[in-house]
Amino acid sequence: MDKIIIEGRRPLSGLASISGAKNAALPLMAAAILAPLTLENVPNLRDLATMGRLLTHMGGRVERDGGRMELDLSRLSRPEAPYEMVKTMRASALVLGPLLARHGRAKVSLPGGCAIGRRPIDRHLKALEAMGAVINLSGGYVEARAPSGGLRGANIHFDDITVTGTENLMLAAVLAKGRTTITGAAREPEVTDTARALLAMGARISGLDTDQLTIDGVTELEPALHQVMPDRIEAGTLIVAGALTGGRIVLKGPPHAALAAVYDKFREAGVSLTENDDELIVEAGPAVKSIDVTTRPYPGFPTDMQAQFMALMTIGNGVSLIHETIFENRFMHVSELVRLGADITLEGPTAMVRGVHRLSGAPMMATDLRASASLILAALTARGRSEISRVYHLDRGYDRLDEKLAALGADIRRLPE
Ligand code: EPU
Repeated sequence: MDKIIIEGRRPLSGLASISGAKNAALPLMAAAILAPLTLENVPNLRDLATMGRLLTHMGGRVERDGGRMELDLSRLSRPEAPYEMVKTMRASALVLGPLLARHGRAKVSLPGGCAIGRRPIDRHLKALEAMGAVINLSGGYVEARAPSGGLRGANIHFDDITVTGTENLMLAAVLAKGRTTITGAAREPEVTDTARALLAMGARISGLDTDQLTIDGVTELEPALHQVMPDRIEAGTLIVAGALTGGRIVLKGPPHAALAAVYDKFREAGVSLTENDDELIVEAGPAVKSIDVTTRPYPGFPTDMQAQFMALMTIGNGVSLIHETIFENRFMHVSELVRLGADITLEGPTAMVRGVHRLSGAPMMATDLRASASLILAALTARGRSEISRVYHLDRGYDRLDEKLAALGADIRRLPE
């Protein structure tokens, strides 16, 4: 296990490239259960290594060479996701839909809770049942079987949006018999990226980027090549780094369109953002303006940026109210930020952040992926030294964030704990 040591208050400048998106790469890897898939622009993340191990465990071949990953599960022999793998990464549940579609059966451990909330997969299961799957829960596992003749198209409505639920269902429906419609579908850009790869494999999907997807099942998919979209959350995280350190940084390759709501909030907070083709110039304003933020499904402000945005608001010029509407317990970073001198009070799903003049370095403990990023960001602006332990959470979803920050001029080091 590593820890990260930061000496704060170094102005950042220079260029950082945005890596491929974790939350696109995960469903894309699961899509390889349906037909061989080669992915490019694959980030180097622990969660992807976990998904790779899971697919290998099933009998698949996963080969990585830099940002290129070749996946072939033609010889899939063991359609199961054991507890040891699922417990470290909930997105393992994404294999359920494609396994049922391609293999007719699947055994996937129930994910259980995690640091940010309960996070059940009941909506995934209900939707698969509507397609004819027979599902039993026993011994902590979901045991699912497709009906004889395979999954059948169905009209599915999600009352509440689920991102991986939409992806799971789409991955099942592309090989089902007949038409599936999904209303109340998640519109996250990563869902669209997954759909684009499926289209390249020969799937028939319409309604991309909307909350209504129509999928006409085909009997077989073909091998394809797909570029993973850039990570909008990594881009947002680096924008906070630039804004908090009074610097001027250039990001190469952020997905501007997917970041519209995030850019709006940064501009409202006084950060100057200039969009040039595939670059974004980030310049801190004279002061951080305190503004309110409510997390929403896409195209709203993403919950995955809430913790990092809160780090920015800690040094705002007034009071900021941050409402978390997606997860019930995604405030693990608050008590750690308070250790740096931040003034934050929590009431239910709302954090009230009163801006302080300055934070000061302190030892902190990372509790989940985005919380780790938030603590690192706050430490960049704090006076003195901070030490953040348990950074393995960070490596689950950020491709060498510490190295990227060091290259921008941050005084940040990684040491074994
Ligand atoms: N929910 C249910 N039942 C379900 C599914 C979801 O109650 O069957 C609830 C969840 O507990 C949560 C809400 O619905 O309160 C939304 O959950 P959703 O299913 O949309 O989340 P997810 O698909 O599990 C993905 C991302 C998360 C991101 C959320 C929301 C991946 C691999 N994960 O999770 O990413 O926060 O969507 O946008 O795509 C992260 O990257 O740090 C991360 C947690």
